[in-house]
Amino acid sequence: MIVPREIQTSAAVAEHYDELDPFYREIWGEHVHHGLWESGRETSQEAIEALIAHLASTLDLQPGQHICDVGCGYGATAEWLAGRHGVRVTGLTLSSAQIRQAQARSAASSQLHFSQQDWLENEFGDETFDHVFAIESSEHMPDKQRFFNEAFRTLHPGGRLAVYAWLARTSARPWEERYLLEPICREGRLPGMGSEAEYRAWAGKAGFVVDGFEDLSTRVRRTWALCTGRVARKLLTHTQYRRYLLDAHARNRIFALSVPRIWVAYLTGSMRYGLLTAHKPK
Ligand SMILES: C[S@@+](CC[C@H](N)C(=O)[O-])C[C@H]1O[C@@H](n2cnc3c(N)ncnc32)[C@H](O)[C@@H]1O
Repeated sequence: MIVPREIQTSAAVAEHYDELDPFYREIWGEHVHHGLWESGRETSQEAIEALIAHLASTLDLQPGQHICDVGCGYGATAEWLAGRHGVRVTGLTLSSAQIRQAQARSAASSQLHFSQQDWLENEFGDETFDHVFAIESSEHMPDKQRFFNEAFRTLHPGGRLAVYAWLARTSARPWEERYLLEPICREGRLPGMGSEAEYRAWAGKAGFVVDGFEDLSTRVRRTWALCTGRVARKLLTHTQYRRYLLDAHARNRIFALSVPRIWVAYLTGSMRYGLLTAHKPK
């Protein structure tokens, strides 16, 4: 696993999303995840929704099922799934800024429930959920084995787990680790970036049967070309972006460096993006 040279705590992850909240909402929008391009002609909104549709078909959602969204961001994915598939979704996030937006959604829908809670310390009972998914949140968790153990414990027997994750190439070369992967972990508040083999091993050790792994890297990487362009344009046209970058007290301004770095890491194959699917045996 790639680990940053400075320890990244859950408190630092929460602070990252709280401090960068206005920028995330302007640059990414209400979904803080990659888009998935099929033809390359989709708009970024279509690509973002395609990733959620990909999740829904992977989990084979049925109306009335109770699903857990681990690391739910602003709650927009949960809302999309509840609206289109009739499922009940419980989501959790570490961030105060995100939970406020998410709870505005749940106020308007009895199918949604959100709480500001650490998944690694969650209070859900055993076998609570029909399915559990995590879109780009496991990277932020300091104890990946516990991430999988908690998914296994809270799932009904037969329930599925879907994990979309930023991954490091297996056996990354020293220059990739030094100039790309270690800084991406440090700047993005990732306590560790695992490889496909490590994700498979953690899932298996938790008790899951791994059903598959899909490498989506080339279909999602366009996200970072778009985000790099959006950040550059904002820096040229909006003084508050320049002011934030020049503010020595802004602890998360360093993430601006990661935006183009991640794009390069995908182009060099140093970073991968994949979906791991698994189920809890009956
Ligand atoms: C990149 S955002 C993804 C948000 C959302 N899944 C989406 O696709 O829009 C990462 C999310 O993971 C959450 N997260 C990270 N570590 C967590 C933890 N230990 N417990 C709960 N949520 C966590 C963050 O609060 C944030 O909401």
